[in-house]
Amino acid sequence: MRTEACAKTFGGRTVLSLPAIELAPGRICAVVGANGSGKSTFARLLAGVIPPDGGGAVLPPRAEVRYMPQKSYPFRLSTRANILLSGGGEERAEALMEALQIGRLARRRATGLSGGETAKMALARVLSRPCGLLILDEPTASMDMEAAILAEGLIETYCKETGCAVLLITHDLQQARRMAGDALFLYQGRLWEQGPAERVLFAPERPETRRFLEFYGGA
Ligand SMILES: Nc1ncnc2c1ncn2[C@@H]1O[C@H](COP(=O)(O)OP(=O)(O)OP(=O)(O)O)[C@@H](O)[C@H]1O
Ligand SMILES: [Mg+2]
Repeated sequence: MRTEACAKTFGGRTVLSLPAIELAPGRICAVVGANGSGKSTFARLLAGVIPPDGGGAVLPPRAEVRYMPQKSYPFRLSTRANILLSGGGEERAEALMEALQIGRLARRRATGLSGGETAKMALARVLSRPCGLLILDEPTASMDMEAAILAEGLIETYCKETGCAVLLITHDLQQARRMAGDALFLYQGRLWEQGPAERVLFAPERPETRRFLEFYGGA
Protein backbone atom coordinates (compact mmCIF):
# COMPACT_ATOMS: atom_id res chain seq x y z
CA MET A 1 0.00 0.00 0.00
CA ARG A 2 1.38 3.36 -0.99
CA THR A 3 0.96 6.40 1.23
CA GLU A 4 0.84 9.83 -0.40
CA ALA A 5 3.43 12.46 0.34
CA CYS A 6 2.05 14.42 3.28
CA ALA A 7 2.81 17.16 5.76
CA LYS A 8 1.34 18.37 9.03
CA THR A 9 1.65 21.82 10.53
CA PHE A 10 0.53 22.79 14.03
CA GLY A 11 0.43 26.48 14.92
CA GLY A 12 2.78 27.42 12.10
CA ARG A 13 5.29 24.66 12.91
CA THR A 14 5.60 21.84 10.37
CA VAL A 15 6.12 18.77 12.51
CA LEU A 16 5.98 16.24 9.68
CA SER A 17 6.86 16.30 6.01
CA LEU A 18 7.11 12.94 4.30
CA PRO A 19 7.43 11.63 0.75
CA ALA A 20 5.24 8.81 -0.57
CA ILE A 21 6.05 5.56 1.22
CA GLU A 22 5.44 2.01 0.04
CA LEU A 23 4.19 -0.37 2.74
CA ALA A 24 4.47 -3.97 1.59
CA PRO A 25 1.57 -6.36 2.23
CA GLY A 26 2.32 -9.21 4.62
CA ARG A 27 5.30 -7.39 6.09
CA ILE A 28 5.99 -5.51 9.27
CA CYS A 29 7.56 -2.08 8.89
CA ALA A 30 9.04 -0.63 12.08
CA VAL A 31 8.94 3.13 12.62
CA VAL A 32 11.64 4.41 14.95
CA GLY A 33 12.78 7.86 15.96
CA ALA A 34 13.18 10.16 18.93
CA ASN A 35 10.34 11.64 20.99
CA GLY A 36 8.60 14.28 18.92
CA SER A 37 10.00 13.06 15.59
CA GLY A 38 6.49 12.73 14.18
CA LYS A 39 5.75 9.01 14.50
CA SER A 40 2.32 9.34 16.11
CA THR A 41 1.41 12.24 13.85
CA PHE A 42 2.14 10.00 10.86
CA ALA A 43 -0.02 7.25 12.39
CA ARG A 44 -2.88 9.67 13.00
CA LEU A 45 -2.69 11.02 9.44
CA LEU A 46 -2.82 7.47 8.06
CA ALA A 47 -5.68 6.52 10.34
CA GLY A 48 -7.61 9.61 9.23
CA VAL A 49 -7.83 10.94 12.80
CA ILE A 50 -6.33 14.25 11.66
CA PRO A 51 -6.17 15.68 8.12
CA PRO A 52 -2.88 16.45 6.35
CA ASP A 53 -2.00 20.03 5.41
CA GLY A 54 -4.11 20.97 2.40
CA GLY A 55 -6.66 18.22 3.13
CA GLY A 56 -6.96 15.19 0.92
CA ALA A 57 -6.22 11.57 1.71
CA VAL A 58 -2.91 9.99 2.63
CA LEU A 59 -4.07 6.46 1.80
CA PRO A 60 -5.78 5.07 -1.30
CA PRO A 61 -9.58 5.29 -1.25
CA ARG A 62 -11.27 2.36 0.46
CA ALA A 63 -8.05 1.28 2.16
CA GLU A 64 -9.07 -0.75 5.20
CA VAL A 65 -7.12 0.54 8.15
CA ARG A 66 -7.06 -0.57 11.75
CA TYR A 67 -5.35 1.66 14.27
CA MET A 68 -4.18 1.20 17.83
CA PRO A 69 -3.33 4.67 19.19
CA GLN A 70 -0.46 5.37 21.58
CA LYS A 71 -3.04 5.94 24.30
CA SER A 72 -6.32 4.07 24.17
CA TYR A 73 -9.51 5.35 25.72
CA PRO A 74 -11.91 2.49 26.37
CA PHE A 75 -15.67 2.87 26.28
CA ARG A 76 -17.56 2.52 29.58
CA LEU A 77 -18.40 -1.08 28.78
CA SER A 78 -16.98 -4.45 29.72
CA THR A 79 -13.63 -5.51 28.28
CA ARG A 80 -15.39 -8.10 26.13
CA ALA A 81 -17.91 -5.54 24.84
CA ASN A 82 -15.08 -3.16 23.97
CA ILE A 83 -13.39 -5.87 21.90
CA LEU A 84 -16.67 -6.90 20.26
CA LEU A 85 -17.15 -3.31 19.05
CA SER A 86 -14.65 -4.18 16.33
CA GLY A 87 -17.25 -6.49 14.79
CA GLY A 88 -14.88 -9.46 14.75
CA GLY A 89 -17.34 -11.80 16.49
CA GLU A 90 -17.43 -13.67 19.80
CA GLU A 91 -15.17 -16.54 18.88
CA ARG A 92 -12.29 -14.36 17.75
CA ALA A 93 -12.70 -12.08 20.77
CA GLU A 94 -12.53 -15.05 23.15
CA ALA A 95 -9.49 -16.49 21.38
CA LEU A 96 -7.63 -13.17 21.56
CA MET A 97 -8.53 -12.60 25.21
CA GLU A 98 -7.26 -16.09 25.98
CA ALA A 99 -4.05 -15.55 24.01
CA LEU A 100 -3.37 -12.23 25.73
CA GLN A 101 -4.31 -13.69 29.13
CA ILE A 102 -7.13 -11.21 29.75
CA GLY A 103 -9.97 -13.75 29.83
CA ARG A 104 -10.49 -13.06 33.54
CA LEU A 105 -11.04 -9.38 32.72
CA ALA A 106 -13.77 -10.06 30.16
CA ARG A 107 -16.64 -8.86 32.34
CA ARG A 108 -14.79 -6.06 34.06
CA ARG A 109 -15.56 -2.50 33.09
CA ALA A 110 -12.77 -1.49 30.74
CA THR A 111 -12.40 2.04 32.12
CA GLY A 112 -11.01 0.45 35.31
CA LEU A 113 -8.26 -1.56 33.63
CA SER A 114 -4.57 -0.88 34.26
CA GLY A 115 -2.41 0.67 31.54
CA GLY A 116 -1.05 -2.65 30.33
CA GLU A 117 -4.46 -4.33 30.55
CA THR A 118 -5.97 -1.51 28.50
CA ALA A 119 -3.27 -1.98 25.86
CA LYS A 120 -4.01 -5.71 25.66
CA MET A 121 -7.70 -4.95 25.20
CA ALA A 122 -6.93 -2.36 22.52
CA LEU A 123 -4.65 -4.83 20.74
CA ALA A 124 -7.32 -7.54 20.86
CA ARG A 125 -9.74 -5.03 19.32
CA VAL A 126 -7.56 -4.19 16.31
CA LEU A 127 -6.57 -7.82 15.73
CA SER A 128 -10.20 -8.97 15.71
CA ARG A 129 -10.73 -8.47 12.00
CA PRO A 130 -8.56 -8.55 8.87
CA CYS A 131 -7.55 -5.27 7.24
CA GLY A 132 -5.23 -3.87 4.61
CA LEU A 133 -3.07 -1.77 6.92
CA LEU A 134 -2.60 -2.25 10.64
CA ILE A 135 -1.12 0.73 12.48
CA LEU A 136 0.25 0.05 15.95
CA ASP A 137 1.55 3.02 17.93
CA GLU A 138 3.81 1.60 20.67
CA PRO A 139 1.47 -1.34 21.28
CA THR A 140 3.58 -3.01 23.98
CA ALA A 141 5.05 0.06 25.70
CA SER A 142 3.00 -0.48 28.85
CA MET A 143 3.02 -4.29 28.78
CA ASP A 144 5.23 -6.52 30.92
CA MET A 145 7.82 -8.55 29.05
CA GLU A 146 5.81 -11.79 28.93
CA ALA A 147 2.76 -9.94 27.62
CA ALA A 148 4.87 -8.08 25.07
CA ILE A 149 6.27 -11.35 23.71
CA LEU A 150 2.76 -12.82 23.49
CA ALA A 151 1.58 -9.67 21.71
CA GLU A 152 4.48 -9.83 19.25
CA GLY A 153 3.55 -13.41 18.33
CA LEU A 154 -0.09 -12.46 17.78
CA ILE A 155 0.84 -9.49 15.60
CA GLU A 156 3.20 -11.61 13.50
CA THR A 157 0.58 -14.33 13.04
CA TYR A 158 -2.06 -11.76 12.14
CA CYS A 159 0.25 -10.18 9.57
CA LYS A 160 1.05 -13.55 8.00
CA GLU A 161 -2.52 -14.84 7.98
CA THR A 162 -4.26 -11.71 6.73
CA GLY A 163 -1.46 -10.51 4.44
CA CYS A 164 -1.92 -6.97 5.67
CA ALA A 165 0.83 -4.38 5.91
CA VAL A 166 1.78 -3.56 9.49
CA LEU A 167 3.24 -0.24 10.60
CA LEU A 168 4.81 -0.81 14.00
CA ILE A 169 5.87 2.29 15.91
CA THR A 170 8.16 1.29 18.74
CA HIS A 171 10.89 2.54 21.08
CA ASP A 172 11.86 -1.05 21.74
CA LEU A 173 14.70 -1.54 19.31
CA GLN A 174 15.03 -5.23 20.14
CA GLN A 175 11.36 -5.65 19.32
CA ALA A 176 11.79 -3.83 16.03
CA ARG A 177 14.77 -6.03 15.20
CA ARG A 178 12.84 -9.19 16.13
CA MET A 179 9.73 -8.36 14.16
CA ALA A 180 10.33 -5.99 11.28
CA GLY A 181 11.24 -6.77 7.70
CA ASP A 182 11.45 -3.08 6.82
CA ALA A 183 12.13 0.05 8.83
CA LEU A 184 11.67 3.80 8.69
CA PHE A 185 13.73 6.22 10.76
CA LEU A 186 12.08 9.58 11.31
CA TYR A 187 14.23 12.54 12.28
CA GLN A 188 12.71 15.91 13.11
CA GLY A 189 9.61 15.13 11.09
CA ARG A 190 11.52 13.88 8.04
CA LEU A 191 11.99 10.43 6.60
CA TRP A 192 15.70 10.19 7.28
CA GLU A 193 16.35 6.59 6.39
CA GLN A 194 14.27 3.72 5.05
CA GLY A 195 14.87 0.20 3.79
CA PRO A 196 15.26 -3.37 4.97
CA ALA A 197 15.39 -3.66 8.76
CA GLU A 198 18.76 -5.44 8.53
CA ARG A 199 20.23 -2.23 7.19
CA VAL A 200 18.30 0.59 8.90
CA LEU A 201 18.27 -1.04 12.36
CA PHE A 202 21.63 -2.79 12.22
CA ALA A 203 23.88 -0.91 9.81
CA PRO A 204 22.37 2.49 9.02
CA GLU A 205 23.95 4.84 6.52
CA ARG A 206 23.32 8.22 8.06
CA PRO A 207 25.07 9.60 11.16
CA GLU A 208 21.80 10.68 12.80
CA THR A 209 20.45 7.15 12.60
CA ARG A 210 23.69 5.72 13.97
CA ARG A 211 23.62 8.21 16.84
CA PHE A 212 20.01 7.27 17.63
CA LEU A 213 20.91 3.57 17.72
CA GLU A 214 23.94 4.21 19.92
CA PHE A 215 21.66 4.83 22.89
CA TYR A 216 20.36 1.28 22.50
CA GLY A 217 23.85 -0.15 22.51
CA GLY A 218 24.79 0.67 18.94
CA ALA A 219 24.06 -0.60 15.46
N1 LIG B 1 -2.20 18.51 18.25
C1 LIG B 1 -0.97 19.03 18.29
N2 LIG B 1 -0.76 20.35 18.49
C2 LIG B 1 0.48 20.89 18.49
N3 LIG B 1 1.59 20.17 18.33
C3 LIG B 1 1.46 18.86 18.12
C4 LIG B 1 0.18 18.22 18.09
N4 LIG B 1 0.38 16.89 17.87
C5 LIG B 1 1.70 16.72 17.78
N5 LIG B 1 2.36 17.89 17.93
C6 LIG B 1 3.81 18.09 17.91
O1 LIG B 1 4.33 17.39 16.80
C7 LIG B 1 5.58 16.81 17.13
C8 LIG B 1 5.54 15.32 16.80
O2 LIG B 1 4.67 14.69 17.72
P1 LIG B 1 4.38 13.15 17.67
O3 LIG B 1 3.35 12.85 18.70
O4 LIG B 1 4.09 12.75 16.28
O5 LIG B 1 5.80 12.55 18.11
P2 LIG B 1 6.26 11.05 18.32
O6 LIG B 1 7.37 10.78 17.37
O7 LIG B 1 5.09 10.14 18.28
O8 LIG B 1 6.87 11.09 19.81
P3 LIG B 1 6.83 10.05 21.02
O9 LIG B 1 7.99 9.12 20.80
O10 LIG B 1 7.05 10.91 22.23
O11 LIG B 1 5.51 9.36 21.03
C9 LIG B 1 5.85 17.11 18.59
O12 LIG B 1 6.73 18.20 18.68
C10 LIG B 1 4.48 17.49 19.12
O13 LIG B 1 4.57 18.42 20.15
MG1 LIG C 1 4.16 8.95 19.67
